[in-house]
Amino acid sequence: MCEEKKTFYITTPIYYPSANLHIGNTYTTVAADAIARFKRLSGYDVMFLTGTDEHGQKIQRIASENGVTPKEYVDKIVAGIKDLWELMNISYDKFIRTTDDYHVKAVQDIFTKLYEQGDIYKDSYEGWYCTPCESFWTETQLVEEKCPDCGRAVEKAKEEAYFFKMSKYAERLIEYIEANPEFIQPESRKNEMVNNFLKPGLQDLCVSRTSFDWGIPVEFDKGHVVYVWIDALSNYITALGYGDKNTHLYEKYWPADVHLIGKDILRFHTIYWPIMLMALDLPLPKQVFGHGWLLVDGGKMSKSKGNVVDPVILSEHFGVDAIRYYLLREIPFGSDGVFTNETFIKKINSDLANDLGNLVSRTVTMIEKYFDGVIPAPTATESIDNELIKLALETPDLVEKSVDDFKLPEALSHIWTLIGRANKYIDETTPWILAKEEDKKERLGTVLYNLAEALRITSVLISPFLPDTSDKIREQLGVEICTWDSVASFDGISAGTKVKKGQIIFPRIDVEAKLLELEALKKEDQEEIQSMEPIKPEITIEDFEKVDLRVVKVLECEAIKGAKKLLKLKVDLGGEERQVVSGIAKYYKPEDLVGKSVVLVANLKPVKLRGELSQGMILAASTDDDSNLFTVSIPGELPTGSQVR
Ligand code: ME8
Repeated sequence: MCEEKKTFYITTPIYYPSANLHIGNTYTTVAADAIARFKRLSGYDVMFLTGTDEHGQKIQRIASENGVTPKEYVDKIVAGIKDLWELMNISYDKFIRTTDDYHVKAVQDIFTKLYEQGDIYKDSYEGWYCTPCESFWTETQLVEEKCPDCGRAVEKAKEEAYFFKMSKYAERLIEYIEANPEFIQPESRKNEMVNNFLKPGLQDLCVSRTSFDWGIPVEFDKGHVVYVWIDALSNYITALGYGDKNTHLYEKYWPADVHLIGKDILRFHTIYWPIMLMALDLPLPKQVFGHGWLLVDGGKMSKSKGNVVDPVILSEHFGVDAIRYYLLREIPFGSDGVFTNETFIKKINSDLANDLGNLVSRTVTMIEKYFDGVIPAPTATESIDNELIKLALETPDLVEKSVDDFKLPEALSHIWTLIGRANKYIDETTPWILAKEEDKKERLGTVLYNLAEALRITSVLISPFLPDTSDKIREQLGVEICTWDSVASFDGISAGTKVKKGQIIFPRIDVEAKLLELEALKKEDQEEIQSMEPIKPEITIEDFEKVDLRVVKVLECEAIKGAKKLLKLKVDLGGEERQVVSGIAKYYKPEDLVGKSVVLVANLKPVKLRGELSQGMILAASTDDDSNLFTVSIPGELPTGSQVR
């Protein structure tokens, strides 16, 4: 009977649909992808879940600002996120959206069950409310006592809400965490959770809202939508069919082997989530791993600081595998790490172009040059070969152990030790000298076989981390197989295999020139932003509503004597005729405007310009230097006098 594969279930957080995911968000998913690929390679039946967290008042507000429904808004952003994961070579097995029907239904059932069994109760939520943003904030979220989103004054307000009795389960959770030291990783974060949050006593968690409606409706109380965490965290089980008819994936994969997340959401995953699961009487995930932050210029990436590192732009310059390598090798997994263009480029040059790239090109070039591109049989072994062979055969276990401990930089470092050893083997065996002596042909063949074989094993070992590079190396070696079994012995390549020299896998980069190029790009971006007129101070909707904008038709138009810039227009405003003076003579001839529909500020205080009465103002858009201007017009037919709102 064939043995069932062991399962491995790994998840990333589900991402907020934000238009520009940066390299920091990419980090979580690239790390999860490398682990998932490694587990598949080493024989596990893997479920790798990622997705998007699509509800909430912020999305509702942004969508309405963009004049679309929340669903239309998130659909577009989610498509972009999926494109980014495709670019980054993310091999997820399932992508969950919290707007998916099955998730909505399952969350409603979970909420109802928790309510019926007395874990959720109704009370009221008190917080700081920002009226224009329609948002509630907690005391700690406020920035200088103002709304953190718009900077305006907030006021204390109350709304009816449901709460989850967290405190009921706190003791049980503390016991669980103490009894399962591997549950929260890295270890240091465990103490923070227990000592700072659990032991001082848990507050009940607000789990519903009535002040917005872009969320999962609470079935038994229609004015409420489920608020954030019950919706978001449940994705890890609803994605497997929990609460649905077909639960076979849930039976197979739950509990998760690891939830991989950033440290900022560790509290939700190691306190709220396990308590929810305890209340539902479900097993807890085996491990929650909170990785550190990817910092830029000594701080967090943010749009306002203008220091966001865009993975798409980086990939255009350096390729996806270079980014994956840097993230996985250079950021100590579990701690914060810093990204700079300079360290990134230098790492590409040293590890990828020099160490790995050279090994590939030297090996393949020598096989082409000395053996017409055909890998020879290893018939003349010497003791010096043993060190390389031994290391090549030991490395897979070392890498596996590091991945099992989620020490990804260490896993890559083991592989690079093997690469370094193979490069040293070239220097020790000096194939170019062997090639000069006819009786050393067999020895030369053996050296080149060993190099090709070390490279083959390397290509398999890097496949979870740098999948494209792994394929390229095997293509050059003329080898197809990429399995875990194949790295257990040093004879995977059949003598007679034909190599195919390809392009250099990582060309060396001129550090100074590239840094200047990137700097120039950044400047262009900033200039583009800076060249725009600064946005004026905010106004309220009431302020805006004071301006009465109307569609009018130009009946007559003429130049004003002695005023080069001005035109005098007679316009029809819903049957009423008005005279307006407008400074648009440089851009329009009078005859161009007659018959045109334009937009008039109809309640502007009348003024006299060059002795002519102007009853309102024609709206126009222009470049900052006034080199170009167009009047604002309405693309369809509307009766004159129609309001513009
Ligand atoms: O938190 N460095 O979504 P999100 C490293 N929807 N990681 C970073 C980072 C940086 N500079 N910036 C962000 C959410 N991240 C919730 C999750 S899960 C049930 C709900 C990480 O889009 C962050 O820590 O704000 C998190 O792990 C992930 O990006 C998604 O963040």
